[in-house]
Amino acid sequence: MDLKKIFRNNQNWVQDKLDLDANYFNNLSKVQHPEILYIGCSDSRVPPEDIMGVSCGEAFVLRNIANVVPNSDLSSMSVIDYAVSHLKVNHIVICGHYYCGAVKAAIQSTDLGVLNPWLKNIRDVYLLHKIELNAINDEENRYKRLVELNVLEQCVNVIKIGEVQKAYRDRGMSVHGWVYDIHSGLLIDLKIDVASILKHVREIYRFE
Ligand code: CO
Repeated sequence: MDLKKIFRNNQNWVQDKLDLDANYFNNLSKVQHPEILYIGCSDSRVPPEDIMGVSCGEAFVLRNIANVVPNSDLSSMSVIDYAVSHLKVNHIVICGHYYCGAVKAAIQSTDLGVLNPWLKNIRDVYLLHKIELNAINDEENRYKRLVELNVLEQCVNVIKIGEVQKAYRDRGMSVHGWVYDIHSGLLIDLKIDVASILKHVREIYRFE
């Protein structure tokens, strides 16, 4: 890829925005009020703003390998805390995607060096749901189900956070689990039941 092309693209993009609204960047530079915190995979085929059809300023975004939210990960926790406590987003979305290379790698018995501790998060999801997953004979379907279960468990991790529980209770902020299907381009809402997950996690994760 010719990187000079990226700068030309950027200049064209700036011009397109200014043609529509001369104050576009002036207005954007003042403040951000995103309503959504989107947490997704770093995969280059899953560009959040494109698949959601949102513009600059509408989504606060965290991407990492396999959209995991370990409660000990300072980056994830900082992004979530800032989005919930300061930006006051109304929705947190965890978006996985079918054919996620990291999810596939996690279920293979391969030593991936420095990636091992990160992929442990997905291997833990497998361990939690191994009865259901091992009962799926078709490998592709098993792998797709692990993508969904990983989204579900990352939603559970998000719901363990005290600030998230507080925002859910006090101002109706919600948590959503989605999967992006790379084959069709469609987003699928897993329709996770936040109320019942909250009830379950608050047996242990109760902060007041
Ligand atoms: Co991925």
